[in-house]
Amino acid sequence: MTARFISFEGTEGVGKTTAITQLCEYLQQQGQTFIRTREPGGSVFAEKLRELLLAPESQIDDDTELLLMFAARCDHINTVILPALEAGKWVICDRFIDSSIAYQGFGRGYGEKKTLSKIQSLITQFVPKLPDCTLWLDLPVAEGMQRAAKRSTADRFEQEAVAFFNRVHQGYDHQWQHYPERIQRIDASGDVQSVTNRVIAAISAIS
Ligand code: TYD
Repeated sequence: MTARFISFEGTEGVGKTTAITQLCEYLQQQGQTFIRTREPGGSVFAEKLRELLLAPESQIDDDTELLLMFAARCDHINTVILPALEAGKWVICDRFIDSSIAYQGFGRGYGEKKTLSKIQSLITQFVPKLPDCTLWLDLPVAEGMQRAAKRSTADRFEQEAVAFFNRVHQGYDHQWQHYPERIQRIDASGDVQSVTNRVIAAISAIS
């Protein structure tokens, strides 16, 4: 199998963490070397920005939030993702650029052209490597929110109302429609084994 850069995306409570764990177990069984990482975060400095970005008490305007996401991403790419890919390792990343389009572009920016083109220009300038494949775990927003509500304290994003997550979902759909060669939609309903099978089938098809 050729080492690939894979990102996972989705709204709250779709089961990304479980799906990523299952894929990593599969890669390990296949004797593949990989790193598992996440955004915002994934490097020492970006994890510090993550704390600020997710803290419910942080009061950040929309542009600052967007720029901090990309500052974190820039450090993550340069210090973690690119070195791993150059060393021939798989990179399994929990969220990447499509989260910025979905959350900042559609959640905060209502899908407005001006906001989307700002994000697109940050991607063009600061993201030298896109994922080889992005798996969008798709579940109805209400179902995901019900699952997520069972977790402990809500972070700054999890405190948003359902209308925000409906727009985020719309953002993922927008990305999927625009980049069908990179983004695969995975039905995230059903039990863990069914979702794992869908994820592994998608990855096997590209590697
Ligand atoms: P996390 O706990 O990883 O969320 P989840 O468990 O739902 O994956 O928190 C990351 C939060 O950051 C999540 O609510 C989405 C948000 N986010 C953005 O708004 N923009 C981004 O570019 C990224 C990477 C994440």
